[in-house]
Amino acid sequence: MTARTDVASPELMPGVTPTPLALLLLGRQSDPASERGVDCPGDLPAASDPTLVARARAAKAALGERVFVLGHHYQRDEVIEFADVTGDSFKLAQQAAARPDAEFIVFAGVHFMAESADILTGPDQKVLLPDLAAGCSMADMATFEQVEQCWDDLAAAGVADTVVPVSYMNSSAAIKGFTGRHGGTICTSSNAKRALEWALTQGTKVLFLPDQHLGRNTAVLELGLSLDDCVLYDPHKPGGGLTAQQLQDATMVLWKGHCSVHGRFTAQSVADVRERVPGVTVLVHPEVKHEVVLAADLVGSTEYIIRALDAAPAGSSWAIGTELNLVRRLAKAHPDKTVVFLDKTVCFCSTMNRIDLPHLVWTLESLVEGRVVNQISVEPETARYAKQALDQMLALP
Ligand code: 13P
Ligand code: SF4
Repeated sequence: MTARTDVASPELMPGVTPTPLALLLLGRQSDPASERGVDCPGDLPAASDPTLVARARAAKAALGERVFVLGHHYQRDEVIEFADVTGDSFKLAQQAAARPDAEFIVFAGVHFMAESADILTGPDQKVLLPDLAAGCSMADMATFEQVEQCWDDLAAAGVADTVVPVSYMNSSAAIKGFTGRHGGTICTSSNAKRALEWALTQGTKVLFLPDQHLGRNTAVLELGLSLDDCVLYDPHKPGGGLTAQQLQDATMVLWKGHCSVHGRFTAQSVADVRERVPGVTVLVHPEVKHEVVLAADLVGSTEYIIRALDAAPAGSSWAIGTELNLVRRLAKAHPDKTVVFLDKTVCFCSTMNRIDLPHLVWTLESLVEGRVVNQISVEPETARYAKQALDQMLALP
């Protein structure tokens, strides 16, 4: 084995001596049952600025009822602590719509969620996203221009009149506007089945975007369609990489997008965890690949996962395939059950994690000082059509 000299080499960083043992100490190998071996027994030292918690509390108290903080389930613990309500994207959209008296909605989540909150709240309310870099790689996989091109391709194949767009909440306001303009609906992982059932009463085909996996899993496992009823539209290929005949024959036209976190779980991770944890029940989010859902025992939205753990008997064992912040909180909340993360290599959602306590404090203190920072504001024409599609979702049977 050769020693690494590329990190912290004395030539590159004068005065710094490489410490190759540091990584070993971090893992300790002291807790073989833990997924990652990075458990820290005892008390972790305080955050680098120990006054941040007190500052967040003080700013929130100073703002009182004027501010309402929404926290998505994938947020860090340090941020969730200051959320007035926590939820999945569906519940948070409902909560935003149900707070007409809050002057400021601080959204601890990602950009598309804050856009939806802006669309669903009144004109005098302001929605703030503590870090504008908190986007979503999946939402970025469908741009407005690409989706317009897709619609042209559907029209050229003679089927656009029969297609109803169903767009996952994880999409930009522009895509939601497109969806509303074409008589479609938004869905989340909690109501995708109802959204598809509704859409198929309005037309004979669905354009589902941007998450191919949620679309496929819902169509096949919940509506009983076959894999052959689904085609995959690749926005980077002419005509989506599909012939007119394929578009005519399909019931589901799935957009070629995916979540860069959930898309990393594999059927092998399911097989491995079954070996590691005898009797484990494997529960995954529907954004995982179809073969992973088939290998798992249960599939459901973030709220479903939380309810399943709440209802599970003491002593039961669970492997969860969703974002790591939530899985860690679930493990903590259920010390009487074994709760492990499905895969050893999948990481936190890096964009969700952009929202941290410093950014939250900065946002709240700015409001106290009378400055509105990082306001998310959707252009009115887009918002009007996007609201139609969001209202359609909120009205789903
Ligand atoms: P939920 O719809 O379960 O809140 O999921 C949002 C999300 O970003 C999933 O990756
Ligand atoms: Fe987007 Fe996936 Fe992160 Fe959810 S977990 S915000 S879908 S990248």
